[in-house]
Amino acid sequence: MAANFLRQNSVPDKLDEQKSVVIDFIEHQKTLDRKVVLVTSGGTTVPLESKTVRFIDNFSVGSRGASSTEYFLKEGYSVIFLHRNRSLKPFLRHLSGYNFLDLLQLDGDEPNSSVRVKPEHQKQLSSILHDYERVQADRSLLNVEFQTLSEYLHLLQVCATCLQSLGRSAMLYLAAAVADFYIPKSEMPEHKIQSSDGPLQLSLQLVPKMLEPLVKEWVPQAYVVSFKLETNKDILVSKSLQALEKYHHQLVIANLLETRKREVKLVTVDSCVDITMTTEDLSHGQEIEENIVKKLKSLHSKFCSIDV
Ligand code: PMT
Repeated sequence: MAANFLRQNSVPDKLDEQKSVVIDFIEHQKTLDRKVVLVTSGGTTVPLESKTVRFIDNFSVGSRGASSTEYFLKEGYSVIFLHRNRSLKPFLRHLSGYNFLDLLQLDGDEPNSSVRVKPEHQKQLSSILHDYERVQADRSLLNVEFQTLSEYLHLLQVCATCLQSLGRSAMLYLAAAVADFYIPKSEMPEHKIQSSDGPLQLSLQLVPKMLEPLVKEWVPQAYVVSFKLETNKDILVSKSLQALEKYHHQLVIANLLETRKREVKLVTVDSCVDITMTTEDLSHGQEIEENIVKKLKSLHSKFCSIDV
């Protein structure tokens, strides 16, 4: 199923180039004996036309993936950040509420005057820049971009298979909100759908779950964390357990759409741990991802220490 999808749907233009960048990154991390986590982030688009004017999208802004990436880096992991273009990015996300130009001021009245950061933003910017420069100097973060569902799934396969060489030291943290329905390339019109043809009826096919080949074939030794998003709390844990039974991976992070920033459940086959943020925690700028990542780091360490 998954193999058919990948064979029949468009391959990203630069897949080979991206693959060699991923391999180089992983080889570099291996020389430094670092653990590597693949963080997937953001929604996927589903094109309605080959020459795409319209597409189906979803709500995800990539906040979970971008913030988790920063905390994984703080905990000593190297990160492959597989993200939707234009979704939130680590470090830059802290500036997403600002108009970039409002952070700056000119030193004089001339058009070629030097530019500096306004005093009121110095502290925040220098702290972000400090963390960002450290990560750049360490070469511990690799950004890989996708937009469509098909690009995401091809790149997921490439990144996962490349991580195989790290054995148990690799973690996959699958936070992207992946489309479940799509139009196969063979059924997609080439040109823009004309509204003059009247109301549009769409027939979408099911996207095969990639967790199955990912766990069985692409990266069988790694520590795999998937997410389960629901809007109905009554089915959240049972659906998470079903996923664990079906795909045999290590952990599901269960979250509800409306409360995802303050409550998650870490579900394994024999445990369910709540991570909850109080209103006070959130008002002090604390983020739930910091606690999630700390817990995962400890579970991953235990996983790595088991003899196989
Ligand atoms: O990005 P934010 O706005 O911060 O929001 C964060 C989030 C809510 C998107 C994130 O916390 C989250 O829950 N992500 C997963 C959402 C989702 O797609 O859930 P799902 O129940 O549809 O899929 C479950 C798992 O199956 C996912 O880990 C996904 O990687 C995997 N999957 C999905 C589709 C597919 N074809 N193959 C898959 O393997």
